Amino acid sequence: MDQDALDVNNISFEHKGAYFASWLTSKQVIDAIEDMEVREDDVFLVTYPKSGTVWTQQILSLIFNEGHRNGTEQTENIDRMPWIEYNIKNVDFTSRPSPRLFTSHLPHYLMPSGLRSGMGKIVYVCRNPKDVLVSCYYFVNTLAPLKHPVNWETTIELFMAGTVIGGSWFDHIRGWYTHKKDFNILFVTFEEMKKDLRSAVKKICTFVGVNLDEKEIDTVVEKATFKNMKHDPVSNYKFLSEDVVDKSRGDFLRKGIVGDWKNMMTVSQCERFDKVYREKMEDLPIKFVWELNEKPAP
Ligand code: A3P
Repeated sequence: MDQDALDVNNISFEHKGAYFASWLTSKQVIDAIEDMEVREDDVFLVTYPKSGTVWTQQILSLIFNEGHRNGTEQTENIDRMPWIEYNIKNVDFTSRPSPRLFTSHLPHYLMPSGLRSGMGKIVYVCRNPKDVLVSCYYFVNTLAPLKHPVNWETTIELFMAGTVIGGSWFDHIRGWYTHKKDFNILFVTFEEMKKDLRSAVKKICTFVGVNLDEKEIDTVVEKATFKNMKHDPVSNYKFLSEDVVDKSRGDFLRKGIVGDWKNMMTVSQCERFDKVYREKMEDLPIKFVWELNEKPAP
């Protein structure tokens, strides 16, 4: 195995078929999640990494807090919606007031079992895997414990093998999609949010049962654009500590576009990817949007 692939392996561990950032969680933490209390009005945002998590965190945070924040405007999104498997600030979930908002990259079978008895709501956001792969490549290279940069070719191989933090994209999507009946779940795509953010915000509002008026919707949409989030200190993830990411190596909010894979993948890389995609996803009735002909925000 290449040295850079080994370096990626060194910063992650496998547990029950998924891969986790080893310096941010442990097997014990992940196993304990199954018994986590779930309340009827809990909302869990679930994604495979690099699929629009922090974007949807911003949307949900604004839906639940805009207009009645009571002086909490400076609260960072990670505090509004902590990750259940990467609880890096040791938030006491039990003492949080309802409605509680959480974030997770977990596969369906590692989530709190209470969610399977109809309690709580899940917003599942997915993105076309070629853009996830590109975003993953840039993001992995910002991870603080990574000793040497990982190259693009290696990232493709690790991603297709599913041995990157987050595990297999293919398994994540398949697992959540084929078990959707077990949960109270809404599927949203990164691409539909890019095409029509306002409609996506409304769809999420309806699902989580929050009634916002048109002006409040406008505010959510405005504050959730890429341009505005990039400069918003509560949502741009510049608050992450240096032992999590090395900010000199790149921004969390990088380009935020659909179709960046076209700038990265060679024809042969694409062909290989398409073949694996077909083999693994052909039987699922999920269709992704692969490009939108847009330019990155300045
Ligand atoms: P790129 O690396 O392609 O730019 P996650 O939050 O799941 O880690 O996903 C990160 C990706 O979502 C990054 O993609 C980031 O730029 C993009 N993103 C975050 N906020 C966004 C927004 N408001 N609009 C569009 N893309 C956004």
